[in-house]
Amino acid sequence: MADAEQPVVSRSRRVVDYGSTIQTRLAAAARLPSFTRWQRLEYFLNVLNQICIGFVTIYMSYLTLRTGLQGTSLHAWLVTIGFSFFMAEGVMIHYGGNVLTHGYKRHTKTTIHWILLTLGGCCGASGALIKMIQKGFSLHSTHGKLGFTAFILCLLAMTSGVSALFSARVKRLITPLLNKTFHNFLGFSCFVIALTTQYYGYQTGYFKSRSETDFQILMKCVTLTSLVLTSYGPLKALYQKCENISRQF
Ligand code: HEM
Ligand code: HEM
Repeated sequence: MADAEQPVVSRSRRVVDYGSTIQTRLAAAARLPSFTRWQRLEYFLNVLNQICIGFVTIYMSYLTLRTGLQGTSLHAWLVTIGFSFFMAEGVMIHYGGNVLTHGYKRHTKTTIHWILLTLGGCCGASGALIKMIQKGFSLHSTHGKLGFTAFILCLLAMTSGVSALFSARVKRLITPLLNKTFHNFLGFSCFVIALTTQYYGYQTGYFKSRSETDFQILMKCVTLTSLVLTSYGPLKALYQKCENISRQF
């Protein structure tokens, strides 16, 4: 006889329960975590965000890789996978509403975070640098100016990230809380500026000549949606850190 068909025998009362499905269901319900409505909304928005990030990354990779990554294609691909993919996924790692990582320990999350952002930071910064060298650092367009700011902030965020990772060792110079808050602030600012630059990237001749107006608008909307939804986690963390600072001082 299969396990599910075994009768359940109570020791206190000599009752044989052949309808064991009720007990099995009750036990399963007790094991299930109960989510509040707000948590369900957070998970739903996070899934939507992962779809937006995936869409931008896959489409931009398709557009740039099929032309053999020449000229601006290399720039657009590197900055997209660096900022819109690795950085977006990396800054959301610690967020409790992230469906991909919410079960991990904080230490594991931090390890994934710095690996993703070392990769993302290097791809994004080199993508921006390649273009600036090609254009001789002219920085005429809004896109170029924002891109240069994102480049500088990216380097600062990576440096402050190393300092946040070793915050216990440098606590004589700066307290771990201030150290991590500073990194959180720089990292968040870098992400916001980078995705705004990406938005302006869809207005460049390179992208306009390769896509229809409707599709340019769609890419802008999807990028802005992922910017807003990704920002929630780091912004919440920054707010909590600032609250802790105001309690201490
Ligand atoms: C986070 C994303 C991005 C960053 C940080 C970034 C950064 C930059 C920088 C620093 C420049 C050099 C400007 C100069 O020296 O004059 C530049 C130029 C350019 N980028 Fe991007 N870029 C990004 C996304 C994109 C995307 C997605 C595209 C196209 C689909 C694109 C296409 C171009 C083009 C065509 C130029 C040359 C024309 C101009 O300067 O406006 N970029 N970008
Ligand atoms: C441009 C690259 C980076 C950006 C944009 C960035 C952004 C962020 C953000 C927004 C947070 C706060 C997340 C939260 O608590 O919800 C954070 C936390 C953290 N980051 Fe980065 N990061 C970057 C690179 C790095 C690097 C390279 C390292 C280490 C080598 C690092 C180490 C850390 C650590 C240890 C924390 C946790 C701080 C804490 O416990 O609150 N980050 N980062």
